[in-house]
Amino acid sequence: KERKLILAIESSCDETSVAVIEDGAKILSNIVASQVKSHQRFGGVVPEVASRHHVEEITLCIEDALVEANVKPSDLSGVGVTYGPGLVGALLIGISAAKAFSWAHDLPLIPVNHMAGHIYAAHFVEPLQFPLMALLVSGGHTELVYMKETGSFEIIGETRDDAAGEAYDKVGRVLGLTYPSGKEIDELAHLGQDTYHFPRAMIKEDNYDFSFSGLKSSFINTVHNAEQRGEELRVKDLAASFQASVMDVLVDKTIRACKEYPIKQLVMAGGVAANKGLRERLSSEVAKELPEVTFIVPPLKLCGDNAAMIGAAAFVEAEKGHFADYGLNADPSLSF
Ligand code: KG4
Ligand code: ZN
Repeated sequence: KERKLILAIESSCDETSVAVIEDGAKILSNIVASQVKSHQRFGGVVPEVASRHHVEEITLCIEDALVEANVKPSDLSGVGVTYGPGLVGALLIGISAAKAFSWAHDLPLIPVNHMAGHIYAAHFVEPLQFPLMALLVSGGHTELVYMKETGSFEIIGETRDDAAGEAYDKVGRVLGLTYPSGKEIDELAHLGQDTYHFPRAMIKEDNYDFSFSGLKSSFINTVHNAEQRGEELRVKDLAASFQASVMDVLVDKTIRACKEYPIKQLVMAGGVAANKGLRERLSSEVAKELPEVTFIVPPLKLCGDNAAMIGAAAFVEAEKGHFADYGLNADPSLSF
């Protein structure tokens, strides 16, 4: 059987990434050019700066991905590209590059939803089996997605305000940490105790939605009050208390959703899925509460934005015959 090779392109936010994926399951190359240093001084991603970096990087990344995979354009069977959600200018760079490559080498163009890509990153760990539940936690999204079968996505709950990663980054800013601060807060949290007891929003509510803005405000008030009173901030305990609150609601609602739906697997994906505390907690809760469910979380380098995951999702789309023509446009607020 001939192998199917897909060139995949991701440029929705602040990583320019290109990968070559074999049969949707094997990574031959996965080049990730991060621009995070250029955005750090602004404390967040500046869309115009992101677009300019993507323009500079994209063709180099495509060349590198082909060289590293030892693949010629004529070996490929398609070009997958993220067309949303994300920053419109950033998305357009990847889409334009994908169209140009597809036209030059006469390859079908496969449109991919970035969030579906995050879920399919788990496919590199273990073949996905349906039905499954996915907890998607990133800088822009926090949602529980039920997948009855491959290619079918039902959002059963989501954040009403901030995404989990966004909360990490905002709280990190208050502590004077470098953007993005999720990883550093995670590390600090492991050295502290939950002594501040921040609220667990919506944890008792009979739905699968989340809210993190109250936690953020409570955190900011605590820090400001302590500063006004001249009290010393216990930064490690603040981080541990914040993280405990985030984990409690994410884990509680995810486990409840998994009990409600007939699933074989639980996937956790997105940038915040790199969180050590969350990986450990969810893994042990699933083992305890849902022994028949397999918990899958991608390795750290596949949790953040990357094109390998886009290639895995593109393979599924191509198998279903979902292709795009050259009218493909960026869809910044694309949902499932
Ligand atoms: O998926 P991603 O790379 O980009 C988006 O599509 O948003 O997610 C980035 C987010 C950032 O908010 C970052 O602070 C967070 O993931 N993050 C973490 C950790 N590593 C990255 N949050 C908590 N703990 C971590 N270890
Ligand atoms: Zn992402």
